[in-house]
Amino acid sequence: MATRAIRGATTVRTNTREEIISETGVMLLEMLERNSIKKEDVISVIFTVTSDLNAAFPATAARSIGLTRAGLLDFPELNVTGSLKMCIRALMFIDGIMPQSEINHVYLNNAIVLRTDLLKKEHRVAVALDGPAGSGKSTIAKMAAKELGFIYIDTGAMYRSVALYCIDKDIDYNNEVQVLRKLDNINITIENANREQRYILNGNDVTDLIRSPEVSDGASKVAAYKAVREKLVAIQRELASKQSVIMDGRDIGTNVLPKAEVKVFMTGEVEERARRRYEELHLKGMAVTFEEILEDIKKRDYNDSHREYNPLRQADDAVLLDTTHMSVEEVKDYIVAEVKKYIKEV
Ligand code: CDP
Repeated sequence: MATRAIRGATTVRTNTREEIISETGVMLLEMLERNSIKKEDVISVIFTVTSDLNAAFPATAARSIGLTRAGLLDFPELNVTGSLKMCIRALMFIDGIMPQSEINHVYLNNAIVLRTDLLKKEHRVAVALDGPAGSGKSTIAKMAAKELGFIYIDTGAMYRSVALYCIDKDIDYNNEVQVLRKLDNINITIENANREQRYILNGNDVTDLIRSPEVSDGASKVAAYKAVREKLVAIQRELASKQSVIMDGRDIGTNVLPKAEVKVFMTGEVEERARRRYEELHLKGMAVTFEEILEDIKKRDYNDSHREYNPLRQADDAVLLDTTHMSVEEVKDYIVAEVKKYIKEV
């Protein structure tokens, strides 16, 4: 046997003795049950409460559910700006044989937003982020995914990988028949390395090679082919079925994940979008002019919104966000808040 620690957190709606004791009791029983722990194996429990709760000591709940031998202690919590309101947290020390990595921590009621990465299967959230090039989708999606503990999936990178394959193999990406003939030879996977995602095309890491203007142009061409879209959309849906995701692209809210819990359509004035992309590529050391980028973006905006299959379009239930005058932080905070609002509602 060794000492293990289980974290729990829950919230109440009113500062009443009944609610504090009953919600704390529910949380403690869940902590025991989800880890198959007997009451006798609990060594001690430390509770903290936010300063808006003073109607009861949570430790009283531990006694009332029968934790008679454990050492108990209540503490007031730091009053941090923006932190969760009416929250009771617990740290339970137990005698156990399971490795600490297999401990199931418990987050109930609104406290679920404290650890969105631990969402249970039935609470999984999909965030669909659509919009034209340079609207900031990928930067925002990456930041929001990190904060929420979700997986970020860049669907554009998949279309770009198909375009790169064509360029490398001398296949004319403007020629649909030629591209479709080779489609079965294209294998795209995502690998996680150092908390970053790498895009693997037929075994080769192409993450850094797919950002050139030539690949951008090819991506928006091959993205118009129905068979290409069907192949990539199947991969995207499969990825989203396994975890909470933020997926960015052109047709996520309308086609790939029409039931996504949160949908945002990001736009921005074309000059501002081109300026952002220009800065991004310059930082990566690419020799491109602003005019080239502006041209590329205008052309892709047109191709993407006029193609027959799954064009760039705002889903009826998506929120429209014009990011022209918004900072990256503001947009990220907006999306994180939308996700947390959704989770609190379920
Ligand atoms: O980063 P940027 O917005 O410039 O482009 P991207 O998201 O990497 O996507 C590259 C191209 O792939 C787009 O211009 C679209 O033509 C296409 N695409 C698509 O059709 N559907 C998606 N879900 C994602 C990208």
